[in-house]
Amino acid sequence: MIDHPDFIAGLPKAELHLHIEGSLEPELMMALAQRNRITTPFATVEEVRAAYNFSRLQDFLDIYYAGADVLRTEQDFHDLALAYFDRAAEDGVVHAEIFFDPQTHTDRGIPFQVVADGLLAGMAAAQARHGLTAQLILCFLRHLDEDAAFTTLKAAEPWLDRITGVGLDSSEIGHPPEKFARVFAAAGDMGLKRVAHAGEEGPPDYVWQALDLLDIDRLDHGNRALEDPILTARLAREGMTLTVCPLSNLKLCVVPDMAAHPIDRMLKVGLRATINSDDPAYFGGYIADNYRAAATGRDLSLADLTLLARNSFLGSFLPLDAVSMHLARLDAYVDAA
Ligand code: ADE
Ligand code: ZN
Repeated sequence: MIDHPDFIAGLPKAELHLHIEGSLEPELMMALAQRNRITTPFATVEEVRAAYNFSRLQDFLDIYYAGADVLRTEQDFHDLALAYFDRAAEDGVVHAEIFFDPQTHTDRGIPFQVVADGLLAGMAAAQARHGLTAQLILCFLRHLDEDAAFTTLKAAEPWLDRITGVGLDSSEIGHPPEKFARVFAAAGDMGLKRVAHAGEEGPPDYVWQALDLLDIDRLDHGNRALEDPILTARLAREGMTLTVCPLSNLKLCVVPDMAAHPIDRMLKVGLRATINSDDPAYFGGYIADNYRAAATGRDLSLADLTLLARNSFLGSFLPLDAVSMHLARLDAYVDAA
């Protein structure tokens, strides 16, 4: 029998919940600060890392938005994306659907074009270098208002043929999905997929709203849905994919320790759960680290790990023939292990 760690790194998988700004490692942050002649509050990489101590989502978001200030040019966004894809490829990621937060950049004067074209160039480089495919999901910042989200959707129009969907992130409590019902409906009319963070810190009601008012195709996090058995049954019945992020949940105190993580309970009740890294530079691990932490904390079997990887392709926005191809490769890997 092959060891879990080796099995996990080689297991072909898709990453469905990754904020590209959350993959900004302190080393790259310092290098970009120097390249762009920006002074940061931190003198060393160690000082940056020492600041990554969070007791809730907002603690993290404050530091994450501040860190993104070093991203100024198309080259910066390209380098950020390619660094993530290089690292993800080492972890067996063959397809990634990545979030970006345009408002974090446009609100400080960086044009949408700089962000989008830089990321798209990074995606093209990853495809050429690793054969790794990628898609973009534009997230609206939920602490900002509906008008700002509509302005962002408008700014994205020239790129809509290269953007797969829209998402909803940032401070959850106090900013329910209903606030964005109209902008999500407009995005749907434009043919975009819809995903939303819900039930990370927010109550099960926010998950109901994401389903009923945003008509989501995928649920990001969704942990607190488990508090509501009727909601859980609906998510299972509808085959809704949950993009679960174990190390993020640990670092943001959504769970007290990995032994309390609900990942195996989600699988047991028939939810299509996946494992993802969220903001790996801030939470201490990329996707394989997340699989390993969950495997150790919850004593997951090779069959559980295989199911999680399988779910990542089934829950992706890839066309059906690509999903089938990835599942066949996954089966061949497991059979040979
Ligand atoms: N933005 C980046 N990571 C996030 C998370 N885990 N929840 C909400 N917004 C985010
Ligand atoms: Zn997230």
